[in-house]
Amino acid sequence: MPTLQPPPAKYGGRHTVTLIPGDGIGPELLSHVREVFRFSCVPVDFEVVHVNSGLESEDDINNAITAIRRNGVALKGNIETKHIMPPSVKSRNNLLRTSLDLYANVMHCQSLPGVQTRHKNIDIIIIRENTEGEYSNLEHESVSGVVESLKIITRNNSLRIADYAFRLAREKGRRRVTAVHKANIMKLGDGLFLQCCREVASGYPDITFDSMIVDNTTMQLVSKPQQFDVMVMPNLYGNVVSNVCAGLVGGPGLVPGANYGRDYAVFETATRNTGKSIADRNIANPTAMLLHLVKSYLIQIFFFLQLHTADIGGQGTTSEVVQSIMRIIQSKGQLTTDL
Ligand code: NAI
Repeated sequence: MPTLQPPPAKYGGRHTVTLIPGDGIGPELLSHVREVFRFSCVPVDFEVVHVNSGLESEDDINNAITAIRRNGVALKGNIETKHIMPPSVKSRNNLLRTSLDLYANVMHCQSLPGVQTRHKNIDIIIIRENTEGEYSNLEHESVSGVVESLKIITRNNSLRIADYAFRLAREKGRRRVTAVHKANIMKLGDGLFLQCCREVASGYPDITFDSMIVDNTTMQLVSKPQQFDVMVMPNLYGNVVSNVCAGLVGGPGLVPGANYGRDYAVFETATRNTGKSIADRNIANPTAMLLHLVKSYLIQIFFFLQLHTADIGGQGTTSEVVQSIMRIIQSKGQLTTDL
């Protein structure tokens, strides 16, 4: 990805990565990732930091943030945010992203061979502004029965996310960037976002720029998703659009997500669900946590072995998929990653 260089390896070529197990299916999926790393002799040591979503104190998330500042990189399960908690309890996930200024959320939604879906040949990169917009945590009840919830759009952050999108598009040989907005209603806020995208686009004459209103975008996505290439958008639209796109290619169990800032990177599943209802049942799809690392192996498993977990219409278990990955690694003699 454009801005980030991996941190230098320490202690005999080994890297330390912060690992936050999170809630729901996070701990079991991350234990499988560790198993695959150990089996393949990947030179990574994990520093495990637990974050407890039920606490009012923010000490736990602050410890996790300190660990990521030290190590540079983290792999995380998703941390539950109960909406019945008081407004003073902020989403741990949100605190982590804003404290580390992980401004670009990147998700690559691609049809996978062997996974049955309504639409084929989808290959969309979604760039979501990850630090402001509707996720600014600025809400108050001005008078009883009237809540004001502030959406913050800044010129600086809009320019940097647009620039990220165009640089990534160029680096990946993509031809088109679409800005998603609702500037017809939010003329100032989304208008500024759109204007910043236009300004950045003028510096990339090799890439076509266009824009689309968010409601039309979601309709176009479920009707003809192949028309999209790279998409860039403010925070909440990014959340909705990335979930639609995950659904288009087979669901939340299949798509990894990455959060990049200038100095740090945090990897998690793209849709960031906890999957609490399927936790500890050995049925969660481990793909979203492993795809970045072993994409071609997973394609072999889906396509040739027809081994699918329940979410994509099969009867395979999480551990059967993980064991198949390890069998392929063993037969090749080493882990050849897709990174
Ligand atoms: P959920 O956790 O219930 O997941 C939605 C559906 O996807 C469920 O049917 C689940 O079984 C399925 N699913 C998710 N991962 C899967 C996998 N690996 N394999 C197979 N099926 C899988 O989603 P919900 O209700 O939206 O969110 C639950 C919790 O997650 C809430 O506490 C919410 O705050 C948190 N969350 C956090 C987000 C963040 O930004 N960190 C974003 C979305 C949700």
